Amino acid sequence: MFEHIQRVPGDAILGLIEAFKNDPRSRKIDLGVGVYRDDKGDTPILPTVKDAERYLVEHETTKSYIGSHGAADYGDLVLSLVFGADSEVLAQQRASLTQSPGGTGALRLAADFLRTNLSPRRIWISDPTWPNHIGIFSAAGIEIKRYPYVDDQNHFVFDLMLEALRQIPEGDIVLLHACCHNPTGYDLSREQWQAVLEVLRERRLLPLIDMAYQGFGHGLDEDAYGVRLLADNLDAMIITFSCSKNFGIYNERTGAFILVAGNKEEMLNIRSQAAITARENYSNPPAHGASVVSHVLGNDALRQQWVSEVTEMRQRIRSLREQLVNALDAHGLRERFSCVLEQNGMFSYLGLSPEQVDYLRDEYGIYMVRSGRASMAGLRSEQVEDMAAALADAVKK
Ligand code: LMR
Repeated sequence: MFEHIQRVPGDAILGLIEAFKNDPRSRKIDLGVGVYRDDKGDTPILPTVKDAERYLVEHETTKSYIGSHGAADYGDLVLSLVFGADSEVLAQQRASLTQSPGGTGALRLAADFLRTNLSPRRIWISDPTWPNHIGIFSAAGIEIKRYPYVDDQNHFVFDLMLEALRQIPEGDIVLLHACCHNPTGYDLSREQWQAVLEVLRERRLLPLIDMAYQGFGHGLDEDAYGVRLLADNLDAMIITFSCSKNFGIYNERTGAFILVAGNKEEMLNIRSQAAITARENYSNPPAHGASVVSHVLGNDALRQQWVSEVTEMRQRIRSLREQLVNALDAHGLRERFSCVLEQNGMFSYLGLSPEQVDYLRDEYGIYMVRSGRASMAGLRSEQVEDMAAALADAVKK
């Protein structure tokens, strides 16, 4: 029965976790998977999350099902985090949230929802993008097309991107990253979001915004600028949201599939479909992570503390970017790596060839995705000099 099934290579990003663990060298550096680390190299549980968990141990009274849309308080709190508490979209009841198992689960819900309800021909994704976008939408039977995002010299090519969006056939879907673009770290400015909005409207394209890093770019509200602009001005969009990074609850699989419609009636119609999509995938989402998020966001003092925790994570990554570029200056490479300061969030696209990435791994025990994506949050201050010296060596190859 199974004789014909071939073994396939594992996932390139998740595979780096294992490869790094198995490397016996003590000076190794893990810039692989997008997981935040502190300056000791740990991924600690946020104090607010710990507080919420203590509260839940005492006060949770049942482990019964929570329904296909998940917990209602989580839905309301996350919607107001994404759109802002005074959002018109929320006042008009045009947005629906379905709790999902992580951001990846939200993307799969989006893909299945689209295939069932709109039979879309194509989804347009940035070149490059997070590789799993391709896997998820292909698995749901949606054709993948690409628009340019960076050129061979590792420059963000917004003009080419916009030109490509203008050529997309009406009714297709366009996947955009809300902030902290994965893998490049290059984000749209406010003016660029405005220009994208105009093209989406003109061409009647459906935006799907992947929002996995709210708070890691410039701030919780700042990082939601594009999402809010589009939601305020369009009568159809999809957002896939993740709490993995900004709450540090990676293994609790907590995310959201958000639909924005033209009015409340239409929202209720598509919301009913979202429940069926969830039911057919996994029935009910896991509850724990969402209960933690609701407890933190629903309590003023804890929420404020959480905002500080997110700020600290963001500032640490920003400071590492500066430290690295300063250290590269000593090697005459400030300009070559000035991209590191332009990019936002966890990832930096360093403009390295796959061979240079392999060289860094083999010679220095530095692990990153072969596209040249480095997860900056994996760097410790004490490793910055070594990292700069290794990069200076690798770029000579
Ligand atoms: C990443 O891109 O490293 C993260 O989003 C983790 C993942 O699932 O790939």
